Amino acid sequence: MLLYDNRIIEREQARIDVEDRAYQFGDGVYEVIRVYGGQPFHLKEHLDRFQRSAREVRLSLPYPLEQLEEHLFELMRRTGLQEGNLYLQVSRGTAPRTHAFPAQARPLIIAYTQPSARPLKEQNQGICAVTTEDIRWLRCDIKSLNLLGAVLAKQKAADQGCQEAILIRDGIVTEGSSTNIFIVKDGTVWTHPADHLILHGITRDITLQLAAVLQISARTEAFDSAALFDADECFMTSTTMEICPIIKVDGQTIGTGSPGPVTRRLQEAFQKLIS
Ligand SMILES: Cc1ncc(COP(=O)(O)O)c(C=O)c1O
Repeated sequence: MLLYDNRIIEREQARIDVEDRAYQFGDGVYEVIRVYGGQPFHLKEHLDRFQRSAREVRLSLPYPLEQLEEHLFELMRRTGLQEGNLYLQVSRGTAPRTHAFPAQARPLIIAYTQPSARPLKEQNQGICAVTTEDIRWLRCDIKSLNLLGAVLAKQKAADQGCQEAILIRDGIVTEGSSTNIFIVKDGTVWTHPADHLILHGITRDITLQLAAVLQISARTEAFDSAALFDADECFMTSTTMEICPIIKVDGQTIGTGSPGPVTRRLQEAFQKLIS
């Protein structure tokens, strides 16, 4: 079952034209929303970001967000999704191939559900990461379907048996290939400011709010790779990974080499939010 334009159909019935602009240009934007106990988590924030991403690439959604929300609830009901992800994308539509926007194409929304368990092992034990140059474009705040920079970075991590690639631009840690990156130094949490160089992660925002509630001081300021290696703790955040410790980077231990106390407090607070 999937949402195809404004109908819910069987996956086998869905047809994507070879001249769909998402297929040829990556011309579209997307969202991944986590579902806990059959309920989408922070759906409004994801739909608002979806609309903003579309607006920033001058793509008009084919119908209002309220209608999209209804379709997504219907999709979750029909697929019976309890624990997993909801994937949503919009393409600028199908038209004869030419770079400039086609006059006539109707943007195509698709969405489908993927059952999946929470990554508890990674969250408990921590993961390892590699660093790599951030070669992406300068509008990383847009959740664009163009993911080659992220794909290449993640593959570099996978080639080295690691789960994430930490991106470095001009010596500064921007974010992970599909996560936001935080370090902890002397009890203060640091993460890159929400500008055009990173995705404004919804889990990043939630984590900063939790830090405020827990009276953990937080700075949304750029830090360099030396600060990363010198950190007491490091963790990443995302819709699917939630708050996940990073205990090794480029083979070097971060802090004590096990998930640190600040990360643990934030993880516990996050757990309360979702249960
Ligand atoms: C590049 C990048 N940064 C950060 C994130 C985390 O964002 P969120 O917490 O909204 O899932 C993602 C999620 O896919 C991402 O692709």
